[in-house]
Amino acid sequence: MAKSKTLFVCQNCGAITQRWQGKCESCGEWNTIVEEAVAAGIAASRNRSAGRAFPLEGLTGVARPEARIITGLGELDRVTGGGFVAGSVALIGGEPGIGKSTLLIQACASLARQGGRVVYISGEESTSQVRLRAARLGLSDAPVELAAQTGVDDIVATLGSGDRPRLVVIDSIQTMWSDAIESTPGTVSQVRGSAQALIRFAKASGAAIILVGHVTKDGQIAGPRVVEHMVDAVMSFEGEGAHAFRILRASKNRFGATDEIGVFEMTGAGLSEVANPSALFLAGRDGASPGAAVFAGIEGARPLLVEIQALVAPTTLGTPRRAVVGWDSSRLAMILAVLEAHGGLKLGQYDIYLNVAGGLKIAEPAADLAAAAALVSSLVGVSLPHDAVYFGEIGLSGAIRPVAHAGLRLKEAAKLGFTRAVAPASADRQGAGTAKLTMSPVSSVASLVAEIAAAGIAVNKDRNRVTK
Ligand code: TYD
Ligand code: MG
Repeated sequence: MAKSKTLFVCQNCGAITQRWQGKCESCGEWNTIVEEAVAAGIAASRNRSAGRAFPLEGLTGVARPEARIITGLGELDRVTGGGFVAGSVALIGGEPGIGKSTLLIQACASLARQGGRVVYISGEESTSQVRLRAARLGLSDAPVELAAQTGVDDIVATLGSGDRPRLVVIDSIQTMWSDAIESTPGTVSQVRGSAQALIRFAKASGAAIILVGHVTKDGQIAGPRVVEHMVDAVMSFEGEGAHAFRILRASKNRFGATDEIGVFEMTGAGLSEVANPSALFLAGRDGASPGAAVFAGIEGARPLLVEIQALVAPTTLGTPRRAVVGWDSSRLAMILAVLEAHGGLKLGQYDIYLNVAGGLKIAEPAADLAAAAALVSSLVGVSLPHDAVYFGEIGLSGAIRPVAHAGLRLKEAAKLGFTRAVAPASADRQGAGTAKLTMSPVSSVASLVAEIAAAGIAVNKDRNRVTK
């Protein structure tokens, strides 16, 4: 029996240290380092046989096109690049309660109805819980094979007997364990070892496997990051708990692009696909009040219109408040500085709030112009034109810089009935369907402020005339 020693492993990133530490040096998380047993036998083993030589091949061999497993959930198939590849392993990560199990039972049911063996292994819920959910979703009739198991050796043995499964869902990889590994379930060694066994099964059998991985901050269970490098595709399922929309995003895909996103809406009857996300994010828009601008954005490779809301109100505090939801706060600080330096605005006496409606998080610099327009609109108290979209990056000099995918943004805006686009002068209209859009080129922050302020003066004149 090989002597086993222990090492200290970060449960978030898998980094190994020789002693316990409060903070992981590698990923910066706190309280994630746990002592784990490591079998020290392999390298030390004396009776290792010499390796056998194998033939090497050239790049010009015959490449077989991969067989795709199309689930029938359009948004899911879009993210995987046209369906899961047979024999591949995908990891779907996300916070607990975001809807991973719901999405996957729906995918399983849809695929099982097409025929072929589909297996759903739940390590977290009992079979009756999974059945109950399936009944609520109206999926009880789908011939999905179900089990509540966590022993990975038994699972591989079960999957290996009978017909080859087309798709296997393991919900979740963090609950899986194997006798062959000397540490408690949920630790890095167990998660890695179990994933390895399942990956080996997928490659050998040609079944596609989806591993579910919970993302937790506290490091109580090993994060999905520790298996990311082993799998063929990594997807994350994101969303705000309080909002109904969910976005599935690929961050690694050996068989497709990683810039596609899938959009879903959580309803009482499970996740429904959102083929037109812009309409979802613009629903309930109140275009008449000041401080709201529609941003023509890009998420992944998809255009997405979303409302950016700003509130600029006189402050009663010594240090005015600056609060942002859904956008970068240092980006807001930069825009405010540029508006003060080049737009002639004085914002020191105002509290400023910025919000991206619908709970979306925007990371694009292209949102600068929409944010600036919303801020100026709130400050001068005049609403922006109801039928206009905004996009463009603001430079420190106050210039509005061009951004990528202008054509896609304009096309989406035209599709949703917008008739004006306020954008950098060079935004070219690639693509059909943008003919009805009036372009309002804007070259600097100063001209943006002047334009909105001029509209404000006109509105105030009208108001005075009415009240007289
Ligand atoms: P679940 O798929 O269990 O999340 P995960 O597997 O990522 O932990 O989803 C749980 C949440 O989804 C739960 O809070 C309730 C909600 N939900 C609905 O709103 N409608 C539904 O039809 C279902 C099945 C779940
Ligand atoms: Mg779940």
